[in-house]
Amino acid sequence: MGTGHVQSLLFLLLLFGAPSLASEPDFYCHKGIWMSIVKDPKRMFNWTTDKVETCDSGSFCQESLLMIKSGAKTAILATKGCISEGTQAITYIQHSPPPGIITVSYSSYCEESLCNSKENLLQLWREEEPQAASTSAHLYCPTCVALGACSNAPSLPCPNDTVQCYQGRLQITGGGINSLLEVKGCTSITGCRLMSGIFTVGPIWVEEVCPYRSVLQPRKIENRAAWLPVYIWRLELALLLLLQLVHCSW
Ligand SMILES: *[C@@H]1O[C@H](CO)[C@@H](O)[C@H](O)[C@H]1NC(C)=O
Ligand SMILES: *[C@@H]1O[C@H](CO)[C@@H](O)[C@H](O)[C@H]1NC(C)=O
Repeated sequence: MGTGHVQSLLFLLLLFGAPSLASEPDFYCHKGIWMSIVKDPKRMFNWTTDKVETCDSGSFCQESLLMIKSGAKTAILATKGCISEGTQAITYIQHSPPPGIITVSYSSYCEESLCNSKENLLQLWREEEPQAASTSAHLYCPTCVALGACSNAPSLPCPNDTVQCYQGRLQITGGGINSLLEVKGCTSITGCRLMSGIFTVGPIWVEEVCPYRSVLQPRKIENRAAWLPVYIWRLELALLLLLQLVHCSW
């Protein structure tokens, strides 16, 4: 009796107790896909869903969305569901700032069952209230945002401090979404960089293509300058190889 008995009891407890401890309770996430064009994302967008999915063990719940505003309309592509890879984190990115087209993305990965339960965009869409932005008389851009292709794009005066007319297509895939989005409008960014080079939004992947030439390209010289160092570097490499060849032949 005594310690020996206690030890064997402990051993039995570990032996038979461990499996029931290891089997985790089921893990659930809210599930859904949203793709819409709205005028007032703060009030009109309802991010709730009745659907729930059961996740594999070790999963996270995710809720992710991409919002692009051009003119009076905002495109919203959003997803909720299980995700097997990642880390617990909240990511908020303003890819292209006002004035002009505004692009914002949000993604949250969380560890509790049904934690992907955001209901609206009240805190997310912090976009400056559409204050009567002063428009400049010299720049007009075709303006639209549409799932698929724009059926029409009226030419609208641009806000001050916008520099070009953006015209691009975004292929949006992942998280159950597979959609094309067309965006046209005034912007303060230059080139085909509405996403500012960051193309993932949680499980969503965005491919940005600008098939049309932008109307204004005031930064052309900068682009050329960016090529110069690469060119010089190549030249140096060539010289180095040449020197080595000369060296070898001796
Ligand atoms: C959002 O939709 C859900 C279910 O469709 C509904 O119960 C809820 O009241 C809606 N919320 C708002 C703010 O409209
Ligand atoms: C906007 O641009 C117009 C035309 O160039 C100019 O008259 C106006 O003062 C500008 N407004 C602001 C707030 O800069």
